[in-house]
Amino acid sequence: MEEKRNGPLQGSRLLVIGLVAVIIVLGLAIVVLAIGQAGTMETADQRVNALAGSNDECVVCHERTTPGIVQQYGVSTMAAAEVSCRQCHEVARDYPGAVEHEGAFVLQSPTTAQCATCHETEVAQFNQSRHGLPAYIAYAGAQDLPPDHLALYESIPEGTFNPDRSRNDIYHLEGPDVTRFTCEVCHDIGKPAEDGSVGQCQKCHLRHEFSLEQVRKPETCNACHIGPDHPQYEIYVESPHGIAYATNSEHWNWDAEPGTLTVEDFPAPTCAVCHISGFGGTGTTHDVGDRLTWYLFAPVSERRPAWQDNQTRMQTVCGECHNDDYIDEFYEDGDLLVAAVNDWVLESREIIKPLQENGLMTDEPFDQPIDFTFFDLWHHWGRTTKFGAWMQGPDYSQWHGAYEVLRELAELQAIVDEELEAAGIEP
Ligand code: HEC
Ligand code: HEC
Ligand code: HEC
Ligand code: HEC
Ligand code: HEC
Ligand code: HEC
Ligand code: HEC
Ligand code: HEC
Repeated sequence: MEEKRNGPLQGSRLLVIGLVAVIIVLGLAIVVLAIGQAGTMETADQRVNALAGSNDECVVCHERTTPGIVQQYGVSTMAAAEVSCRQCHEVARDYPGAVEHEGAFVLQSPTTAQCATCHETEVAQFNQSRHGLPAYIAYAGAQDLPPDHLALYESIPEGTFNPDRSRNDIYHLEGPDVTRFTCEVCHDIGKPAEDGSVGQCQKCHLRHEFSLEQVRKPETCNACHIGPDHPQYEIYVESPHGIAYATNSEHWNWDAEPGTLTVEDFPAPTCAVCHISGFGGTGTTHDVGDRLTWYLFAPVSERRPAWQDNQTRMQTVCGECHNDDYIDEFYEDGDLLVAAVNDWVLESREIIKPLQENGLMTDEPFDQPIDFTFFDLWHHWGRTTKFGAWMQGPDYSQWHGAYEVLRELAELQAIVDEELEAAGIEP
C-alpha cells in the first residue's frame, strides 16, 4: 500500500491537483485585483475638474509645478464659475506684498481685500466680529494699531470687551520663537495683512477647494476651539447633536445652497448651523457673535450689547427642531448656571485678597504657583463649566468644570492660609 501511493498513477494525480491549485490561485488573484481596482475607482475624485484642458498659462504651468493646487481649485465651485487664479492672486506692481512672477505681480497669500471684490457682505460681517481684529489684539494688544485699524476695532459693538489681559503676559513670557507656533496660529484668523485688510478667510475655508461641506463640518472649528480652556469641539462630540453628526451625517445635504438650509438638509446642527449658517428663519452671518447673549469667555460673564436680539436669532435656529418652552427653560437654566460660576470666580478673588493686601503677591505675572491656580480656576474650569452647559456636554460641565473649580477654590484657600501663617499673619 505504501509503494502504490508513490507510484506513477499517484504522481499524475498530484500533477492535476497541482494544476487545479494554480488555476484557483490565479483566479483568486484576478478577483482580488478587480475588487481592488473597483475600490480605487470609487475613492478617486469623481468631481468635474473645471480646469481640465485649460490653456490659462498659470494653470498650464502649475499643473506641473503644484498639481495639488490645480486639482483642488479645479473642483471648486469658483473654478466652475470661471473665477481665475489671477482674480485672487494678481495685483499691480506697487501693491503691498506683490512679488514679481512669470511676467505678472502676484500675492503669495491673497488677502480679504481680494475676496471683498466679490464677497463684500461676508468680509464686512467678518470685520464686525471677534474673529476679526479682536482675535489678533487678544495676543498683540491694541497699542501699535494704526488709526484706521483702531477705529475699525472700536466700531465693533462686541469687540472691545476685554476684561482680562493676563494672556498677553503669557504671550510675552513665551516669546516669539514659541508664540509663532502657539497663540499666533489660532489668533491670526484676525491678523491685518500688509495691504491693511483684516483676517484670513482660509483659516476656515481651506484653499483651494473652498468647499461648503468642509467648512460646515465641526472639524473645521476644531482647529482652534479645542483644549482645556475652550473645549467646544470636545463638548460637541459628546452632545446629542454631535452624536447625530457622528452616526448619521453621511445622509445630510452638505452642499445645500447657502441661505436655504432646513431640517431636511441638517436633522441636527453642527457648530456652523448654530453660529453661522442661514437656517430656517435665521439668515447666514460671518459675525459669530451675532447669536450670543453672554461673554462666556470672560472670568465674570456679562451680557452682550443687544443680547436680546442675538438670543432671538439663536432661538430661531433651535426652534426649527425644539419647541419654544423647551428652549425658554433651557435658557433660564443656562443663565442660572452662568450666575453660579460668576459667584465662584468672585469668591476666588476674595480668597486671595489678604495676600494682595499684605503685599505677599508679586506684580510679576505668572511667577508664583498661586498665579497659575488663580488663572486656571476661571480660564479653564469656570469657562468649561459654562461652555459644557450651553452646548450640552455634561461631562465637561461636571468633571472638567464645576468639580475642578471646587478643587481649586480649596487649594487657593490652603495656599493663602499657608503664606499668611509663614508671614506671621493670622489667616
Ligand atoms: C512657467 C511656469 C509658471 C507660470 C506661467 C506661473 N507660475 Fe506660479 N509658480 C511657478 C513655480 C515653479 C512656483 C514655485 C516657486 C517655488 O517653489 O519657490 C510658483 C509659485 C507661485 C506662487 C507662490 C509665490 C511665492 O512667492 O511663494 C503663486 C501665488 C503663483 N505661483 C501664482 C501664479 C499665478 C497667479 C500665475 C499666472 C499669472 C502663475 N503663477 C504663473 C511656476 C509658474
Ligand atoms: C479664491 C481665491 C484664490 C484663487 C482663485 C486661487 N488661489 Fe491660490 N491661494 C489663495 C489663498 C487664500 C492662498 C494663501 C494660503 C495660505 O496663506 O495659507 C493661496 C496660496 C497659493 C499658493 C502659495 C501657497 C502654496 O501652498 O504654495 C500658490 C502657489 C497658489 N495659491 C496658486 C494658485 C493657482 C495656480 C491658482 C489657480 C489654479 C490659484 N492659486 C487660485 C487663494 C486663491
Ligand atoms: C472674482 C470674484 C471672486 C473672488 C475674488 C473670490 N470669489 Fe469666492 N466666489 C465667487 C463666485 C462667483 C462664487 C459662486 C460660485 C457658485 O455659487 O456657483 C464664489 C463662491 C465662494 C464660496 C462658496 C462656495 C460654494 O460652494 O458655494 C466661498 C466659500 C468663497 N467663494 C470664498 C472666497 C474667498 C475666501 C475668497 C478670497 C480668498 C474669494 N472667494 C474670492 C467669486 C469670487
Ligand atoms: C488652539 C488655538 C488657540 C491658541 C493656541 C490660543 N488661543 Fe486664545 N483663544 C482661542 C479661542 C478659540 C478663543 C475663544 C474662546 C471663546 O470665545 O470661548 C480664545 C480666546 C482668547 C482670549 C479672550 C478673548 C479676548 O479677545 O479677550 C484671549 C485674550 C486670548 N485667547 C489670548 C491668547 C494668547 C495670548 C495665546 C497664547 C499665549 C492664546 N490665546 C492661544 C484659541 C486659541
Ligand atoms: C469661522 C469660519 C469661517 C471664516 C473665518 C470664514 N467663513 Fe465663509 N463660511 C463659513 C461657513 C460655515 C459657511 C457656510 C454657511 C452655510 O452653511 O450656509 C461659509 C460660507 C461662505 C460663503 C458662501 C456664502 C453664501 O451665502 O453664498 C462665502 C462667499 C464665504 N463664506 C466667504 C468668506 C470670506 C470672504 C471670508 C473671509 C472674510 C470667510 N468666508 C471667512 C465659515 C467661515
Ligand atoms: C484659526 C482659528 C479659528 C477657527 C478655525 C475658528 N475660530 Fe472661532 N474663534 C477663534 C478665536 C481666536 C476666537 C476669539 C476671538 C476673541 O474674542 O478674541 C474665536 C471666537 C469664536 C466665537 C465667539 C465670538 C464672540 O463674539 O465672542 C464663536 C461663536 C466662534 N469663534 C465660532 C467658530 C465656529 C463655529 C468655527 C468653525 C466654523 C470657528 N469659530 C473656527 C479662532 C478660530
Ligand atoms: C445647538 C447649537 C450649538 C452648537 C451645535 C454649537 N454651539 Fe456654540 N454656543 C451655542 C450657544 C447657545 C452658546 C451660548 C450662547 C449665549 O451666550 O447666549 C454657545 C457658545 C459658544 C461659544 C462661546 C462664546 C463666548 O461667549 O465665549 C463659542 C466659542 C462657541 N459656542 C463655539 C462653538 C463651536 C466651535 C461649536 C462646534 C464644535 C459649537 N459652538 C457648537 C450653541 C451651539
Ligand atoms: C437641526 C435640528 C436641531 C437644532 C437646530 C437644535 N437641536 Fe437640540 N437636539 C436635536 C436633536 C436631534 C437632539 C437629540 C434628541 C434626543 O435627545 O432624543 C437634540 C437634543 C437637544 C438637547 C438634549 C440634551 C440631552 O443631553 O439630552 C438639548 C438641551 C438641546 N438639543 C438644545 C438645543 C438648543 C439650545 C438649540 C439651539 C441653540 C438646539 N438644541 C438646536 C436637534 C436640534
